[in-house]
Amino acid sequence: MPSAVRLVVDPDAPDPSLIAKAGATLKAGKLVAIPTETVYGLGANALDPAAVQAIFAAKGRPASDPLIAHVDGPELLAMVAATPIPDHARLLTEAFWPGPLTIVVPRHPDLPSAVTSGLPDAAVRCPAHPVASAIITAAGVPIAAPSANRFSRVSPTSADHVLADLGDRIDMVVDAGRSEHGLESTVVGFDADGAIVLRHGAIPLEALAKFVPTRMLGDSGDRNKSKASPGHDERHYSPRTPTVTVAAELLSDASEDELATLDRPGVIYAGYDDSDTPLPHRWTFVSLGRRSTIAAVAHDLYDTLRSMDRDDVELIIVELTGGDGLGRAVDDRLTRAGSSRIIDDLAALADAIAS
Ligand code: TXA
Ligand code: MG
Repeated sequence: MPSAVRLVVDPDAPDPSLIAKAGATLKAGKLVAIPTETVYGLGANALDPAAVQAIFAAKGRPASDPLIAHVDGPELLAMVAATPIPDHARLLTEAFWPGPLTIVVPRHPDLPSAVTSGLPDAAVRCPAHPVASAIITAAGVPIAAPSANRFSRVSPTSADHVLADLGDRIDMVVDAGRSEHGLESTVVGFDADGAIVLRHGAIPLEALAKFVPTRMLGDSGDRNKSKASPGHDERHYSPRTPTVTVAAELLSDASEDELATLDRPGVIYAGYDDSDTPLPHRWTFVSLGRRSTIAAVAHDLYDTLRSMDRDDVELIIVELTGGDGLGRAVDDRLTRAGSSRIIDDLAALADAIAS
């Protein structure tokens, strides 16, 4: 039975008494799930080590996976980061804050080390969601918040998702309807050359690159993947049902005979309305939307992944978009949903289906 209090707040006209209540609850060291423009976050006072520990316990998240500190502006930023922040970071915050950009910058010495898992850098974000921002201001402290899901599961884009995962483990959820982007923030680190995307997210790399030289982690020049967002595991964002990921258009040219070898009941195939993919007769098609409207695909992605987790489904197959821009972030999540293996030939798919 869910025990968390649900506060329903209108994002266009947030009730100040409800905002004050959520802020005071956070300030007092409790766990409050809050709406943001990306996904729902599981918030706690970032300056209260016991409250921060409670986040890890509620999610079942390893202590080695650091949290993002959420701020409402420069004053709270100066409580979590060493200021001034590096120039490249400043340029990106000027362009994208408030918004779905997380910067990884040297931490403030007083920030409890549990927030950064002992790392010298802190991840910081200034959300654009009016309710998130108002709650942070009301709390008057930076708010540590991972996505409000159980560890390694699909991130929540509604208060119902939060309650399904954590309803019996948290104090309150502030319900402001569905998240606008539906994908987490883009996490960016910095070196002398510019910005390094550590996790794809709601702001595409191409947009960052208009402001500072930006590369993807793993591009030539990066030593190795050890700088990747810690805890950004290979299996993440996963439905409970076994899930495999296939390359874009893998089935487009499959013959009837090839399709017949793949046929079995209990399979859901999640693909796109704007591609004409032939499927084996017994598979069920679920639409992820149209690749030509990728923002809508991102918006609905986690809700669709959650909805496919049903008792009568034995295998979920998700198809990559193959796109750039926001498509990279969608494909990153779809790849992790399939434990970071991309199947790109029909024989391997037949093996995966048979096993
Ligand atoms: O949109 C979002 O980012 C949402 C909302 C709630 O703000 N939050 C979110 O938090 O997705 P979480 O904990 O699910 O993901 C945080 C990511 C992880 O990949 C983590 O490894 C990375 O940020 N991160 C946090 N601190 C870091 C640090 N000091 N260095 C590098 N990566 C860090
Ligand atoms: Mg998460």
